[in-house]
Amino acid sequence: MAALVLFGGGGDLAMRMLLPSLYFLEHDGLLPDGLKIIGAARSEESRDEYVSKVRASVESKAKADDAWSPEAWARMEQRLDYLAVDATSAESLKPLKDKVGEGECTSFLAVSPSLYARIVTAMRAAGLAEPGDRVVLEKPVGRDLQTFSEIDDAVSDAFDEHQVFRIDHYLGKETVQNLIALRFGNTIFEPLWNNLSIDHVQITVGETVGVGDRWPYYDEYGALKDMLQNHMLQLLCLVAMEPPSDLDPDSVRNEKVKVLRSLRRITPEEAERVTVRGQYVAGKSEGEQVPGYDDERGLDSDTETFVAIRADIDNWRWAGVPFFMRTGKRLPEKRTEIVIQFKELPHSIFDNDRGQVTANRLVIELQPQEDISLSVMNKRPGLDQRMQLQPIRMSLSWGQDDKDAKPPRRRIAYERLLLDALNGDSTLFVRRDEAEQAWKWVDEVSQAWTDGNVKPIEYKAGTWGPGEADFLLERTGRAWNTKN
Ligand code: BG6
Repeated sequence: MAALVLFGGGGDLAMRMLLPSLYFLEHDGLLPDGLKIIGAARSEESRDEYVSKVRASVESKAKADDAWSPEAWARMEQRLDYLAVDATSAESLKPLKDKVGEGECTSFLAVSPSLYARIVTAMRAAGLAEPGDRVVLEKPVGRDLQTFSEIDDAVSDAFDEHQVFRIDHYLGKETVQNLIALRFGNTIFEPLWNNLSIDHVQITVGETVGVGDRWPYYDEYGALKDMLQNHMLQLLCLVAMEPPSDLDPDSVRNEKVKVLRSLRRITPEEAERVTVRGQYVAGKSEGEQVPGYDDERGLDSDTETFVAIRADIDNWRWAGVPFFMRTGKRLPEKRTEIVIQFKELPHSIFDNDRGQVTANRLVIELQPQEDISLSVMNKRPGLDQRMQLQPIRMSLSWGQDDKDAKPPRRRIAYERLLLDALNGDSTLFVRRDEAEQAWKWVDEVSQAWTDGNVKPIEYKAGTWGPGEADFLLERTGRAWNTKN
């Protein structure tokens, strides 16, 4: 019988995301028969205590989603077990190995990444890294290329690359996978998907939350390493990659690596021109007065809570097409979107005033809604002598052709990823060389900031970051997408 071990099984990630995701999979009958789920953490508690904690967390989430079923919970409860362990000690992991038994074991490390190297070493000694076993690593793995490599060397001493599943939860989001469907399941986009038709691409990940008590972690990372190195570069790769020959893990990841390799290096001389660092100060967020980052941190800090970057991909397809990315905490909206901005008409026959025709725009929204829409020009109905045009939005989302259909429940990204890891499918996971390339580029940005003495610029909580982020686009004659 197979087992899933959750190291850090009592922690925040496990309780908020992983165990509710497993419940939803159970509810839908998607968990493999006989799979055991074993929580492993430091705290000395009984199985019953653990199970009741899991139930409290799962039940509230499931009820909020109208998906609570006592029968599904009863099935999940049967699978659950708990063991108090020191995961860095092989000796302490032996009883865990006994619980796992002889079946294949997938271990999810939902613990501090500073422990990864020691844990995988202990797992190997305890027999939890056998050829059929797998390990799932939550981000962030390392703080830069060097620390990433140190951890990953220990991981690859214990596991082969095909057994390692590096999570980027953005890849589990439904719309992100839909982007793959949109690009490669249709013929109409591909001929336009290049520098002949596309003017630029924007990727925005806005969050209203502040850093709050996460600052001990955040202060070492900042927005560049917390969000851009992973989630945003992954989105960029999916937009920019060449069509893979199939959906095989390596086919897809080979293409993503090529994109990362083609990212133009940002030098200290250019850092000020193509990047913006920001840090929020006190202001109004969602109607409430909130403190600034330094007030939360209790000390002055040079960590950025906002970053905007112009990235250029030096290859045939994308030469001359800037990719603008921005992300930050305490922005006015929780909004994640990718905007593909097509070029202006080469010549308008409709009016002397070219402003009447707006260029096509494809907006792929991940949050708060999952939606894909394409803006196209349309004739305004009427008998005006000079034809009047107006832009309309065509929704390309699920359910458009059947308005009465009940939308499927919005899944937690971890549901897809846990299921794939259990099935050994690593297409939506990050390969070692991908993570290395992403770190390499981000390390250069970080170094350019140090060498160029680029410090965060203050922005008020509840605004879209420093004005310089708008200027990043304005000086090229462009603007960030406002609510579509
Ligand atoms: C995490 C970051 O990886 O992603 C957090 O560490 C961030 O800082 C979170 O808040 C955002 O995820 P989502 O799915 O809410 O957009």
